[in-house]
Amino acid sequence: DLLDQIKRLEELFTVPGEKLKEITDHFVTELQRGLREEGSTIPMNPTWCMGFPDGHEQGTFLALDMGGTNLRVCEVTLTEEKGEFDIIQSKYRMPEELKTGTADELWAYVADCLQQFIEYHHEGQKIEQLPLGFTFSYPATQEYIDHGILQRWTKGFDIDGVEGKDVVPPFEAALAERNVPIKLTALVNDTTGTMIASAYTDPLMKIGCIFGTGCNAAYMEDCGSIPKLAHMKLDPKLPMAINCEYGAFDNEHKVLPRTPFDIIIDKESPRPGQQAFEKMIAGLYLGEIFRLVLLDLHQQPECHIFENQDISKLTKAYSLDAGFLAAIEEDPFENLSEVQDLFANTLGLTTTKPELELIRRLAELIGTRAARLSACGVAAICKMKGWETCHVGADGSVFNKYPLFKARGAQALKEILDWPEKKGKGRGDPVELFPAEDGSGVGAALIAALTLKRVIAGQ
Ligand code: BG6
Ligand code: GLC
Repeated sequence: DLLDQIKRLEELFTVPGEKLKEITDHFVTELQRGLREEGSTIPMNPTWCMGFPDGHEQGTFLALDMGGTNLRVCEVTLTEEKGEFDIIQSKYRMPEELKTGTADELWAYVADCLQQFIEYHHEGQKIEQLPLGFTFSYPATQEYIDHGILQRWTKGFDIDGVEGKDVVPPFEAALAERNVPIKLTALVNDTTGTMIASAYTDPLMKIGCIFGTGCNAAYMEDCGSIPKLAHMKLDPKLPMAINCEYGAFDNEHKVLPRTPFDIIIDKESPRPGQQAFEKMIAGLYLGEIFRLVLLDLHQQPECHIFENQDISKLTKAYSLDAGFLAAIEEDPFENLSEVQDLFANTLGLTTTKPELELIRRLAELIGTRAARLSACGVAAICKMKGWETCHVGADGSVFNKYPLFKARGAQALKEILDWPEKKGKGRGDPVELFPAEDGSGVGAALIAALTLKRVIAGQ
């Protein structure tokens, strides 16, 4: 019956503390391998963002954020006051068709949005070329900060002719065609932006993380600890932000406890075999894992879930998002009447009490697994660097909107890093996550400012 099914799902989706430790240990060796060898599973991409802001950065910068959900353009003015800034911004929809369309369509759309932004906010003004920090949140190989070769699309993007090429020239060509007075100064990952923006106001910040459509982190390494750059003879003490791209962790399937549902997600994605870690925990996939489990339960003869009902809506891939799971977990009522309404309104399904209980437990299991596995990446960076304490700046829809994600992640970090019980009230955990400042606005602007500073200083 359904209770047996719940037990089976609990076994499938629960990751005990010991397993988290094993995953973290393997994670550490993979991060290290990425620093040593080009083309490793975790790419550990050098970003050429070399140092933290000191709070005295100045100037007006544009920031463009192409993350997946929205396209956002900001104009950030860093003022003379230490750590202060003004920001104006416009959001544009990122049309779904664009994600699987052509490269020309993509760059044309992005350039049109920038042009609209400038026309709207600077109507009738004659403006000099504005420096731009472009937050391009996909893995890119960078030899300089103002270019980047797309290694591969992630997060469901699938546009031909972009992978393996520098994304900056076609982007700049689209701007030039429209006479948009913008000069790309820095190509930035959202995790790097998050780290830099967070460090601007908190000197204990050492890591920037995204828990959103995708999942990833950046941290500051010293060049002497990046063996794959040894040939460049950089000052070993110079800091360099590393965009880990650790959504790709365990693409070899050595340690992550994958379920049959994770395997289906991977097989049916545009890039099978890639982003193994991300596909188990990121927002893009949580609702889909949930949907696949329900569909499987419906199809099992011994488990009569949604019996004799029209399940056609439930058969549509990616029709449920992480917000749907969050809403299930957030139903405050004992009788789960909100979940009942949600199923009726979204999927046209009537639910019995035992079904509702199974649905709630399943959402909890998937949400908890995501938060606990996510903690392994953060713990691995800390372990590798020997950081016993630090602050982590975090952003993304899952971090900001999924109930209990933070508490579950904190509990997992505690289990992995073996912290003693907290003494005294009000003391934070040794490694603590905080909602980040706007990494793709302020962070990208700061990185552009730092870049110009270095150019002027002739470094
Ligand atoms: C936003 C940032 O807040 O979070 C983006 O501006 C980032 O740069 C995004 O990519 C990640 O979250 P999501 O949920 O939109 O993938
Ligand atoms: C994906 C991208 C990565 C990004 C993350 C969060 O993992 O590959 O670049 O940082 O999603 O948006």
